[in-house]
Amino acid sequence: MRTQVGIIGAGPAGLLLAQLLAVRGIDSVVLENHSRDYVQARIRAGILEQGTTDALRDAGLGARLDREGLVHDGLRLTFDGEQHRLDLRALTGRAVTIYGQTEVVKDLIAARLDSGAPLHFEVDDVRVDVATPAVRYRHEGVEHELRCDAIAGCDGFHGVCRAAIPEAEVTTWERAYPFAWLGILADVAPSTDELIYARHERGFALHSMRSRERSRLYVQVDPGDDVARWPDARVWEELHARLASDGFALAEGPVLEKSITPMRSFVAAPLRHGPLFLAGDAAHIVPPTGAKGLNLAMADVLVLADALIDGSPAALDAYSDRCLRRVWRAQHFSWWMTGMLHVDPAGDAYDRELARSQLRYVTRSRAAATSLAENYVGYDR
Ligand code: APR
Ligand code: PHB
Repeated sequence: MRTQVGIIGAGPAGLLLAQLLAVRGIDSVVLENHSRDYVQARIRAGILEQGTTDALRDAGLGARLDREGLVHDGLRLTFDGEQHRLDLRALTGRAVTIYGQTEVVKDLIAARLDSGAPLHFEVDDVRVDVATPAVRYRHEGVEHELRCDAIAGCDGFHGVCRAAIPEAEVTTWERAYPFAWLGILADVAPSTDELIYARHERGFALHSMRSRERSRLYVQVDPGDDVARWPDARVWEELHARLASDGFALAEGPVLEKSITPMRSFVAAPLRHGPLFLAGDAAHIVPPTGAKGLNLAMADVLVLADALIDGSPAALDAYSDRCLRRVWRAQHFSWWMTGMLHVDPAGDAYDRELARSQLRYVTRSRAAATSLAENYVGYDR
């Protein structure tokens, strides 16, 4: 078998890349080791930057997004028992859209399968050969070799593509955090019209949503914590306490899903090794506080699709550096938001006062608010 681009991973990065290439007449094969049902059921991020929604529309994927996406012109910050609004639109001219990663992935899979272009689920034992170049794998018990001009490593943090680059050729940077997020999906209308990020002495909390009927909420927990120790009543009690502010009332509802997400920052560079190009979580991870993971993955493949379509050595060479500028801006923003909004269990009173001062600053100074807002809606220069 032969194709122009072998794409490993059917997450948002791999699927959007396949779509962008198909629109421009470049063929690809997408290989995913999980089942379609599994991929479509995973609950992940939910905030799309305007650049991301524009890209999805340009790629012909705007119909359901425009019908069901919720455009948010602002966000809320709660600390010291007071809620403050940041007007993203007034500060930056841009907004964000609530539309779950799960929905983006469903739309991309449907578009791919409708077009008849190859997307294989439940492949096993994917091996990357950068010398040939080729991707070898097993599908329904049969061994395959896919020869290609380029390989796109869109297989997430735990994939095989980053590991296919010799250690001496990659530099990595990493940060671990002494906390994690416990998230719930609740069958109840959101208690707020915009996201609320809250800092409380008991830890961080976030009120997000997936639709006008479904709420998505998070509380900071210990990284070694277990969902079994968080019965619904305990989660709601923490959410009530941490999100509390004058005039705000949190509505409870049946909990449909509950899970704990570890938090880390990670970058591997360069994003290219010969014919192999890393994109999305395969190359970099951010803590979810800045809502950047999904948007970075999409931004990478927009640059990668342009480079592959151009095909010149200069364009392919420029891929990594072009992505890394945005990646490092998002690294800093995500790390900074995380520090400002969480309570470090090993921190002291000095750390607490710094975080409170920073929150007062971003809610009172237009300059500071603009800096937060322009990073939140997406900064790429
Ligand atoms: N072979 C084939 N597919 C693989 C392999 C493998 N060896 N290893 C992993 N995969 C698949 C995973 O099952 C997953 O479907 O690659 C896909 C990677 O998708 P994501 O993890 O969603 O990564 P990405 O597309 O880069 O999107 C980043 O996902 O984790 C969130 O917060 C993150 O929102 C961000 C987004
Ligand atoms: C979410 O809705 O899942 C979400 C929203 C904002 C974040 C992180 C996650 O910063």
